[in-house]
Amino acid sequence: MIRFEVGENEILIANIDGSIYAMNDRCGHMNASLCKGRLVANIVECPLHKVRYDVTTGKVNREPKIPGFEEVFIETTHMGKIAGGIRTLDLNIYNTRVENGVIQVEILPECCVGPQASQTT
Ligand code: FES
Repeated sequence: MIRFEVGENEILIANIDGSIYAMNDRCGHMNASLCKGRLVANIVECPLHKVRYDVTTGKVNREPKIPGFEEVFIETTHMGKIAGGIRTLDLNIYNTRVENGVIQVEILPECCVGPQASQTT
């Protein structure tokens, strides 16, 4: 995996068996850089709390694994109730292509990404 920035976009590039995928580099849990995590097949694991994402879809594959945040802590403590409400967000993915050995990533304006954009096309 590699990471690069274009303007305010932080993009993770992953090579999965010769196919190139691009996804937001920032974890949808608490913003860690995913390129410092681990890639196994099409799943990238965040280095901070171990959320897993499918790089091909940007969807959360596994919620965080935080030591000490077992169910009883979340249900019985004030801090646990607050932290238990944190949602891990799916990430945007980007179209890619390789031309003459150069990886190209399609970055659309903010208005054209996300679920609303895909419903209108
Ligand atoms: S910041 Fe990625 S799992 Fe918490």
